[in-house]
Amino acid sequence: MSYDIKKIRSDFPELAELIRGKPLVYLDSAASALKPKVVIEAINRHYSFEAANIHRGVHYLSEQGTTQYEKSREACARFINAELPHEVIFTKGTTDALNLVANSYGSLLSAGDEIILTTMEHHSNIVPWQMIAEKTGAIIKVAPINSQGEIILDEYKKLLNKKTKVVSFTLISNGLGTINPAKEMIKMAHEVGAVTVLDAAQAAPHIKIDVKDLDCDFLALSGHKIFGPTGIGIIYGKEDLLNKIPPYQGGGDMIDRVSFEKTTYNELPFKFEAGTPHIAGAIALKDAIEYIEAIGFKDIEKHEKEILDYATDKLKQIEGLTIYGTAKNKTSVISFTLEGIHHQDAGTILDQQGIAVRTGHHCNQPLWAFYGIDGTIRASFCFYNTMEEVDLLVEGIKKVKEFF
Ligand code: ALA
Repeated sequence: MSYDIKKIRSDFPELAELIRGKPLVYLDSAASALKPKVVIEAINRHYSFEAANIHRGVHYLSEQGTTQYEKSREACARFINAELPHEVIFTKGTTDALNLVANSYGSLLSAGDEIILTTMEHHSNIVPWQMIAEKTGAIIKVAPINSQGEIILDEYKKLLNKKTKVVSFTLISNGLGTINPAKEMIKMAHEVGAVTVLDAAQAAPHIKIDVKDLDCDFLALSGHKIFGPTGIGIIYGKEDLLNKIPPYQGGGDMIDRVSFEKTTYNELPFKFEAGTPHIAGAIALKDAIEYIEAIGFKDIEKHEKEILDYATDKLKQIEGLTIYGTAKNKTSVISFTLEGIHHQDAGTILDQQGIAVRTGHHCNQPLWAFYGIDGTIRASFCFYNTMEEVDLLVEGIKKVKEFF
């Protein structure tokens, strides 16, 4: 499929909507991406004609559902280049996935073990580790960043030692857009024997993820950020590690045999999928993945880089506007402040013009504390955004400034 932005936009019903009488300019895909018709139709089809529980029944609908659910697991494995489908566990999303690793792998930690995070982590890659550290006596260390929003690798290296058991960091920052040198950081972590966890929630819609090439031990992503449903995501884990760690939650499906004396657990991936999962969400996630694959990351990256460069150039010309996150290697997120104008007020005036941006701390409070601010206005772009929308944002910001 050649890059046909008009066709792509027509696949997303919300892009044809009027918001407060104005065409929607959706610049909040980093919070949640819009859904193409194929995903909406897959959900509709499932609940209209195919809804039944999976992995349990011998009847037709249950068998069909099980097959589709497992096909989606295969699509997820292909999407991140995992060797084995059962290395992909369905979760509620990235937060749930990171909690799974923190709890399951974290249960093997002891007092004095060290967990390395970075300044730019999302709260969901901080708080679960803090909770585990409190329980086990493990210690959290934070790899610092420079003012451009890049991890200072020399400082990161200094933190690594034989007590380091976990290094967990984001592949792409949701607040800054920085693409971290993950492969290099993972290699360095492995040299001291640490397990690596990648938060790929913001990376998955923008760049090709290859867990084999990265050599990460775990990787989390969310369906709703890759144009799929909310309430579904995955945790990838290397087979030997997933076999080694205990299950996160107990319940149906994750067991082999249950008795009051002793319960044994199911094999991978079911050991980590207790209870009836989000079947419709998992099935429709496959349609989202196939939609992205049909466009292709080569064209996605090219289009988004053009938008990022154009938007950065235009925004930089606005007096009183400061951009946070100027890493050499970044993707299409622009966080900025306007001198003398609170981010929430700016967001409200932009909304009146049909322009959707996110304002506030974006679940990155320690990051903004580093910059000495309490939040930003964040415009995030993806493959369905256009240069015209950037122009509308610039006009919108000018109106915000006139208003105040
Ligand atoms: N983590 C999401 C964001 O960055 C919700 O907006």
